[in-house]
Amino acid sequence: MIIVIDGPAGSGKSSTAKEIANRLSIQFLDSGALYRAITYLWLKADKPDKAIFFENLPTVKLQAQYRDQTFFVQANGEDLTRKIRTQDVADHVSEIASHKAARKFVNEFMRNLVQKDAYIADGRDLGTAVFPDADLKFYMDASLEERSKRRFDEMKSSDSSITLKDVKENLRSRDEKDQNRKNDPLKKADDAVVIDTTGKTFEEQVREMISIIKENVNIN
Ligand code: CDP
Ligand code: CDP
Repeated sequence: MIIVIDGPAGSGKSSTAKEIANRLSIQFLDSGALYRAITYLWLKADKPDKAIFFENLPTVKLQAQYRDQTFFVQANGEDLTRKIRTQDVADHVSEIASHKAARKFVNEFMRNLVQKDAYIADGRDLGTAVFPDADLKFYMDASLEERSKRRFDEMKSSDSSITLKDVKENLRSRDEKDQNRKNDPLKKADDAVVIDTTGKTFEEQVREMISIIKENVNIN
Protein backbone atom coordinates (compact mmCIF):
# COMPACT_ATOMS: atom_id res chain seq x y z
CA MET A 1 0.00 0.00 0.00
CA ILE A 2 1.44 3.34 -1.00
CA ILE A 3 0.02 6.85 -0.57
CA VAL A 4 2.02 9.67 -2.19
CA ILE A 5 2.19 13.43 -1.64
CA ASP A 6 3.83 15.69 -4.22
CA GLY A 7 4.13 19.46 -4.25
CA PRO A 8 6.55 22.40 -4.06
CA ALA A 9 9.08 23.05 -1.28
CA GLY A 10 7.62 24.01 2.10
CA SER A 11 4.02 23.18 1.23
CA GLY A 12 3.86 20.89 4.27
CA LYS A 13 4.37 17.49 2.64
CA SER A 14 6.93 15.93 5.01
CA SER A 15 5.51 17.14 8.32
CA THR A 16 1.96 16.24 7.29
CA ALA A 17 3.03 12.83 5.94
CA LYS A 18 4.88 12.06 9.20
CA GLU A 19 1.86 12.94 11.30
CA ILE A 20 -0.41 10.83 9.11
CA ALA A 21 2.07 7.92 9.31
CA ASN A 22 2.05 8.19 13.12
CA ARG A 23 -1.74 8.32 13.41
CA LEU A 24 -2.36 5.48 10.94
CA SER A 25 0.63 3.37 12.09
CA ILE A 26 2.20 3.17 8.65
CA GLN A 27 5.75 3.93 7.43
CA PHE A 28 6.99 7.29 6.13
CA LEU A 29 9.38 7.82 3.22
CA ASP A 30 10.99 11.21 2.49
CA SER A 31 12.25 11.02 -1.11
CA GLY A 32 13.77 14.52 -0.94
CA ALA A 33 16.06 13.31 1.86
CA LEU A 34 17.49 10.71 -0.54
CA TYR A 35 18.28 13.38 -3.18
CA ARG A 36 19.77 15.48 -0.39
CA ALA A 37 21.96 12.53 0.66
CA ILE A 38 23.37 12.15 -2.86
CA THR A 39 23.97 15.90 -2.99
CA TYR A 40 25.78 15.77 0.34
CA LEU A 41 28.08 13.01 -0.98
CA TRP A 42 28.85 15.03 -4.10
CA LEU A 43 29.67 18.15 -2.02
CA LYS A 44 31.74 16.12 0.45
CA ALA A 45 33.79 14.73 -2.44
CA ASP A 46 34.47 18.37 -3.43
CA LYS A 47 32.11 18.56 -6.40
CA PRO A 48 33.75 15.98 -8.69
CA ASP A 49 32.93 15.67 -12.36
CA LYS A 50 29.28 14.59 -12.46
CA ALA A 51 29.73 11.88 -15.09
CA ILE A 52 32.27 10.10 -12.86
CA PHE A 53 30.25 10.70 -9.69
CA PHE A 54 27.06 9.27 -11.21
CA GLU A 55 28.92 6.29 -12.66
CA ASN A 56 29.95 5.31 -9.12
CA LEU A 57 26.56 6.04 -7.54
CA PRO A 58 25.28 2.43 -7.72
CA THR A 59 28.08 1.39 -5.33
CA VAL A 60 26.76 3.72 -2.59
CA LYS A 61 25.06 1.78 0.20
CA LEU A 62 22.03 3.85 1.11
CA GLN A 63 19.85 3.10 4.15
CA ALA A 64 16.69 4.86 5.31
CA GLN A 65 14.39 4.36 8.24
CA TYR A 66 11.60 6.33 9.93
CA ARG A 67 11.57 6.16 13.72
CA ASP A 68 11.09 8.55 16.68
CA GLN A 69 9.55 11.24 14.40
CA THR A 70 12.73 11.32 12.32
CA PHE A 71 13.58 10.06 8.85
CA PHE A 72 17.11 8.66 9.28
CA VAL A 73 19.39 8.43 6.25
CA GLN A 74 22.77 6.70 6.06
CA ALA A 75 25.22 6.36 3.18
CA ASN A 76 28.08 3.87 3.37
CA GLY A 77 27.51 3.68 7.14
CA GLU A 78 27.69 7.47 7.73
CA ASP A 79 24.65 9.01 9.41
CA LEU A 80 23.53 11.93 7.21
CA THR A 81 20.22 12.68 8.94
CA ARG A 82 21.24 16.18 10.09
CA LYS A 83 23.99 16.85 7.57
CA ILE A 84 21.54 16.91 4.65
CA ARG A 85 19.55 19.84 6.11
CA THR A 86 22.13 22.59 5.46
CA GLN A 87 21.71 25.56 3.13
CA ASP A 88 24.65 24.29 1.04
CA VAL A 89 22.80 21.04 0.32
CA ALA A 90 19.56 22.97 -0.34
CA ASP A 91 21.39 25.19 -2.82
CA HIS A 92 22.67 22.25 -4.92
CA VAL A 93 20.05 19.53 -4.55
CA SER A 94 17.79 20.53 -7.46
CA GLU A 95 20.74 20.55 -9.82
CA ILE A 96 21.83 17.04 -8.73
CA ALA A 97 18.22 15.78 -8.78
CA SER A 98 17.79 16.91 -12.39
CA HIS A 99 20.15 14.16 -13.60
CA LYS A 100 18.71 10.92 -14.89
CA ALA A 101 21.29 8.76 -13.07
CA ALA A 102 20.38 10.32 -9.71
CA ARG A 103 16.67 9.71 -10.35
CA LYS A 104 17.23 6.11 -11.43
CA PHE A 105 19.23 5.36 -8.28
CA VAL A 106 16.70 6.95 -5.89
CA ASN A 107 13.70 5.43 -7.68
CA GLU A 108 15.10 1.89 -7.53
CA PHE A 109 15.86 2.33 -3.84
CA MET A 110 12.32 3.57 -3.09
CA ARG A 111 10.52 0.92 -5.15
CA ASN A 112 12.40 -1.80 -3.27
CA LEU A 113 11.74 -0.25 0.12
CA VAL A 114 7.98 0.13 -0.19
CA GLN A 115 7.46 -3.51 -1.08
CA LYS A 116 8.04 -4.49 2.54
CA ASP A 117 5.36 -2.40 4.28
CA ALA A 118 2.53 0.16 4.00
CA TYR A 119 3.92 3.64 3.24
CA ILE A 120 3.10 7.30 2.89
CA ALA A 121 5.82 9.00 0.83
CA ASP A 122 6.46 12.61 -0.18
CA GLY A 123 8.33 14.13 -3.11
CA ARG A 124 7.92 15.83 -6.49
CA ASP A 125 7.29 13.10 -9.05
CA LEU A 126 5.95 10.21 -6.98
CA GLY A 127 2.41 10.28 -8.39
CA THR A 128 3.51 10.92 -11.96
CA ALA A 129 6.72 8.90 -12.43
CA VAL A 130 7.71 6.71 -9.49
CA PHE A 131 4.39 5.26 -8.30
CA PRO A 132 1.86 5.97 -11.08
CA ASP A 133 -0.37 3.23 -9.63
CA ALA A 134 -0.28 4.54 -6.04
CA ASP A 135 -3.36 3.73 -3.93
CA LEU A 136 -3.93 7.45 -3.36
CA LYS A 137 -2.22 10.63 -4.59
CA PHE A 138 -2.19 14.08 -3.00
CA TYR A 139 -0.77 17.33 -4.35
CA MET A 140 -0.08 19.88 -1.59
CA ASP A 141 0.42 23.55 -2.32
CA ALA A 142 0.55 26.96 -0.57
CA SER A 143 1.59 30.47 -1.58
CA LEU A 144 5.35 31.15 -1.90
CA GLU A 145 4.98 33.79 0.83
CA GLU A 146 3.52 31.34 3.31
CA ARG A 147 5.89 28.50 2.40
CA SER A 148 8.92 30.79 2.87
CA LYS A 149 7.72 31.97 6.29
CA ARG A 150 7.20 28.39 7.44
CA ARG A 151 10.63 27.23 6.27
CA PHE A 152 12.30 30.35 7.75
CA ASP A 153 10.67 29.66 11.14
CA GLU A 154 12.06 26.12 11.04
CA MET A 155 15.61 27.16 10.11
CA LYS A 156 16.16 30.37 12.10
CA SER A 157 16.83 28.64 15.44
CA SER A 158 19.64 26.48 14.02
CA ASP A 159 21.08 29.12 11.64
CA SER A 160 20.92 32.72 12.89
CA SER A 161 22.53 34.10 9.72
CA ILE A 162 19.63 32.99 7.53
CA THR A 163 17.15 35.63 6.32
CA LEU A 164 13.57 35.30 5.10
CA LYS A 165 14.73 36.73 1.77
CA ASP A 166 17.36 33.94 1.33
CA VAL A 167 14.83 31.25 2.13
CA LYS A 168 12.28 32.71 -0.28
CA GLU A 169 14.85 32.91 -3.07
CA ASN A 170 15.97 29.30 -2.48
CA LEU A 171 12.37 28.00 -2.60
CA ARG A 172 11.54 30.05 -5.70
CA SER A 173 14.61 28.91 -7.59
CA ARG A 174 14.24 25.25 -6.56
CA ASP A 175 10.56 25.21 -7.59
CA GLU A 176 11.48 26.68 -10.94
CA LYS A 177 14.21 24.07 -11.54
CA ASP A 178 12.00 21.23 -10.28
CA GLN A 179 9.06 22.26 -12.50
CA ASN A 180 11.06 22.87 -15.64
CA ARG A 181 13.56 20.02 -15.70
CA LYS A 182 13.37 17.45 -18.46
CA ASN A 183 13.51 14.34 -16.25
CA ASP A 184 10.36 13.77 -14.16
CA PRO A 185 9.50 17.39 -13.27
CA LEU A 186 7.31 18.48 -10.35
CA LYS A 187 3.79 18.17 -11.71
CA LYS A 188 0.37 17.37 -10.31
CA ALA A 189 -0.78 13.90 -11.38
CA ASP A 190 -4.15 14.03 -13.17
CA ASP A 191 -5.70 11.83 -10.49
CA ALA A 192 -4.17 13.62 -7.45
CA VAL A 193 -6.33 15.27 -4.76
CA VAL A 194 -5.20 18.90 -4.36
CA ILE A 195 -4.75 20.22 -0.81
CA ASP A 196 -4.03 23.96 -0.67
CA THR A 197 -2.70 24.65 2.82
CA THR A 198 -2.57 28.45 2.55
CA GLY A 199 -4.43 29.76 5.60
CA LYS A 200 -5.04 26.26 6.97
CA THR A 201 -3.75 25.02 10.29
CA PHE A 202 -1.56 21.95 10.37
CA GLU A 203 -4.21 20.02 12.30
CA GLU A 204 -6.90 20.95 9.74
CA GLN A 205 -4.91 19.57 6.83
CA VAL A 206 -3.94 16.39 8.70
CA ARG A 207 -7.59 15.66 9.53
CA GLU A 208 -8.79 16.47 6.03
CA MET A 209 -6.23 14.15 4.45
CA ILE A 210 -6.84 11.30 6.92
CA SER A 211 -10.53 11.47 6.18
CA ILE A 212 -9.83 11.26 2.41
CA ILE A 213 -7.48 8.30 3.04
CA LYS A 214 -10.09 6.47 5.10
CA GLU A 215 -12.70 6.97 2.39
CA ASN A 216 -10.43 5.71 -0.39
CA VAL A 217 -7.85 3.25 0.93
CA ASN A 218 -8.05 0.04 2.87
CA ILE A 219 -5.09 0.53 5.18
CA ASN A 220 -5.09 -2.89 6.83
O1 CDP B 1 11.70 19.59 2.09
P1 CDP B 1 11.99 20.47 0.90
O2 CDP B 1 10.76 20.85 0.21
O3 CDP B 1 12.94 21.55 1.16
O4 CDP B 1 12.73 19.61 -0.20
P2 CDP B 1 12.95 18.08 -0.21
O5 CDP B 1 11.67 17.33 -0.23
O6 CDP B 1 13.94 17.75 0.83
O7 CDP B 1 13.59 17.89 -1.67
C1 CDP B 1 14.82 18.48 -2.00
C2 CDP B 1 14.96 18.50 -3.51
O8 CDP B 1 15.06 17.16 -3.98
C3 CDP B 1 13.82 19.12 -4.28
O9 CDP B 1 13.91 20.53 -4.37
C4 CDP B 1 13.98 18.44 -5.65
O10 CDP B 1 14.98 19.08 -6.42
C5 CDP B 1 14.50 17.07 -5.28
N1 CDP B 1 13.44 16.05 -5.29
C6 CDP B 1 13.10 15.50 -6.52
O11 CDP B 1 13.63 15.90 -7.54
N2 CDP B 1 12.17 14.50 -6.58
C7 CDP B 1 11.59 14.04 -5.47
N3 CDP B 1 10.72 13.03 -5.56
C8 CDP B 1 11.90 14.61 -4.22
C9 CDP B 1 12.83 15.63 -4.15
O1 CDP C 1 7.96 18.75 2.95
P1 CDP C 1 7.72 20.19 2.57
O2 CDP C 1 8.94 20.88 2.08
O3 CDP C 1 6.55 20.36 1.66
O4 CDP C 1 7.29 20.95 3.90
P2 CDP C 1 7.70 20.62 5.41
O5 CDP C 1 9.12 20.19 5.48
O6 CDP C 1 6.68 19.70 5.97
O7 CDP C 1 7.61 22.02 6.10
C1 CDP C 1 6.41 22.71 6.29
C2 CDP C 1 6.47 23.52 7.58
O8 CDP C 1 5.31 24.32 7.67
C3 CDP C 1 6.51 22.67 8.84
O9 CDP C 1 7.28 23.31 9.82
C4 CDP C 1 5.04 22.61 9.26
O10 CDP C 1 4.87 22.41 10.64
C5 CDP C 1 4.58 24.01 8.86
N1 CDP C 1 3.14 24.15 8.54
C6 CDP C 1 2.47 23.29 7.71
O11 CDP C 1 3.08 22.33 7.16
N2 CDP C 1 1.15 23.45 7.43
C7 CDP C 1 0.47 24.47 7.97
N3 CDP C 1 -0.82 24.62 7.68
C8 CDP C 1 1.14 25.38 8.79
C9 CDP C 1 2.49 25.18 9.06
